[in-house]
Amino acid sequence: MRLENKTAVISGGSRGIGRAIAIYLAKLGANVAINYNNNDKAASAVVQEIELMGRKAIAFKADVSKNEEVQLFIDKVLKEYGSIDILVNNAGITRDNLLARMKENDWDDVLNTNLKGAFLMTKAVIRAMMKKRKGKIINISSIVGSTGNAGQSNYSAAKAGLIGFTKSIAKEVAPRGIQVNAIAPGFIQTDMTEVLPENVKEQLLNNIPAKRFGDPEDIASMVGFLSADLSDYITGQVIHVDGGMYM
Ligand SMILES: NC(=O)c1ccc[n+]([C@@H]2O[C@H](COP(=O)([O-])OP(=O)(O)OC[C@H]3O[C@@H](n4cnc5c(N)ncnc54)[C@H](OP(=O)(O)O)[C@@H]3O)[C@@H](O)[C@H]2O)c1
Repeated sequence: MRLENKTAVISGGSRGIGRAIAIYLAKLGANVAINYNNNDKAASAVVQEIELMGRKAIAFKADVSKNEEVQLFIDKVLKEYGSIDILVNNAGITRDNLLARMKENDWDDVLNTNLKGAFLMTKAVIRAMMKKRKGKIINISSIVGSTGNAGQSNYSAAKAGLIGFTKSIAKEVAPRGIQVNAIAPGFIQTDMTEVLPENVKEQLLNNIPAKRFGDPEDIASMVGFLSADLSDYITGQVIHVDGGMYM
């Protein structure tokens, strides 16, 4: 699993799973570009950590739901690195509520970030990958995109949408040497899940055969595999990384 001389773009790379992915791909040899929404300090820390490893890294503040910002980010990456080999659509948010109480904004924000964001990012990089006749796109979906979850109709719809998006784009670009896959994490310990009440966490843990929550690194290692040449014959798949929670 070597990624020397490859450029990896990771959306939402400042914290949590995206941060672990950025650091892991750099460990495998890639130069890395991350974007983020607010957290300048966390994004700079990721860049510093990667530079200490002797790889190149850039962080760019760009909201994935806004086309102009995505375009500026990708233009900057192409200018700095010349090409893009790997795109990880990881940026995501939750705005949980039961349907009867869910505000229209909560629906729009989640769909715009988690699903439209992946569309805008993928559209921005796809020409460069098609020209190269090589590329890897990895979409971070979720277990709830397959199972649904009470209180997460917006998030589950976006994550299920991401699976349909993954399979459709995989079919479109397979003849061009580009593989598109999705990872469906179960419960991973990050800021996103930290806010859940203890009794909910306990209940969730009871449903994980491996009897532990996942770490961001559990997802990063699967992204490493799907980014490397050795997975070139795998496309259009949804890989559950969840300690057995979905089966
Ligand atoms: N944690 C889990 O258990 C779990 C399970 C299944 C799937 N996932 C998915 O995995 C991905 C990462 O989750 P996480 O747990 O690592 O979340 P997290 O700790 O909350 O981190 C979210 C990341 O996304 C960035 N982001 C949010 N909105 C953005 C926007 N509009 N534009 C650009 N960047 C944006 C954040 O940037 P700032 O730092 O600037 O806010 C941050 O870097 C998400 O897609 C999530 O749905 C997570």
